[in-house]
Amino acid sequence: MDSPTQWQLPATHPALAPGQVHLWRLSLLVGPEQIAASRSLLGPDELAKAERFHFPRDQRRYTLARGALRRLLAAYLSRPAGDIRFVYNPQGKPALPTAELSFNLSHSGEIALFAFGRQGRVGVDIERHRPLDDLHALAESLFSQRELADLHSLPQAQQQTAFYDCWTRKEAFVKAIGDGLTYPLAQFDVSLLPGEAAALLRVKEEAQPANRWQMAAFAPASGFSGAIVVEGQGQELSFWGCAG
Ligand SMILES: CC(C)(COP(=O)(O)OP(=O)(O)OC[C@H]1O[C@@H](n2cnc3c(N)ncnc32)[C@H](O)[C@@H]1OP(=O)(O)O)[C@@H](O)C(=O)NCCC(=O)NCCS
Repeated sequence: MDSPTQWQLPATHPALAPGQVHLWRLSLLVGPEQIAASRSLLGPDELAKAERFHFPRDQRRYTLARGALRRLLAAYLSRPAGDIRFVYNPQGKPALPTAELSFNLSHSGEIALFAFGRQGRVGVDIERHRPLDDLHALAESLFSQRELADLHSLPQAQQQTAFYDCWTRKEAFVKAIGDGLTYPLAQFDVSLLPGEAAALLRVKEEAQPANRWQMAAFAPASGFSGAIVVEGQGQELSFWGCAG
């Protein structure tokens, strides 16, 4: 899978063929009309979830991301956005009731990412780089032994970016699987060293994870890390959107 950095703004909604994966990047910094338009697309459970956020900022981001997800799915499925129904696995991963399209989304700060494919599962993650006082303690609780060794081998000035690169790659993988953070995070290794291609290096009890999963890393914007994991070999990734 390539990881180009050009985000294209399509004139019309791009068709998604089997073997292709589309990654969309959208800004969540929009005006009240767009928030209202997104809210009008949400189902009762989504509206109830939006209400439960403590901070208005989180409610806005959730509402906009769900609205955008519905609009993008509607374009791929040629169906009204408000008619789309979701099902959830026990760990909360949303999916369509039929297997016609798989998708995943992530947001951090004011950027949202949406991944769509027609074959296999997908997982995507974005993280804004925030200074972390407890970077090493966090890494100890989240990373595998190999990842910790790689992180510690780097000069301090490179460790924050490497931390977020590693973290987004790990999250994209557990989101593709659908287990989220219930998946044992120390039982697989991803690459994190600068200049090293994004890769799933080892999954415990899986002899050749590289044959089953594709991983790509990209910069959603300056100061962010992003990663996508797709099930299956040789899928072609393209980048769409207009934020940043
Ligand atoms: C999924 C998870 C990794 C998200 O982490 P995050 O960095 O806070 O959030 P992101 O922005 O990257 O992703 C959130 C989106 O991922 C999707 N998502 C939710 N659960 C998911 C899962 N298990 N796997 C993949 N994607 C998931 C949703 O679309 C969610 O967006 P939404 O809240 O707008 O619906 C984390 O919340 C998790 O591990 N959840 C599972 C925990 C669990 O078992 N819960 C059981 C009760 S439902």
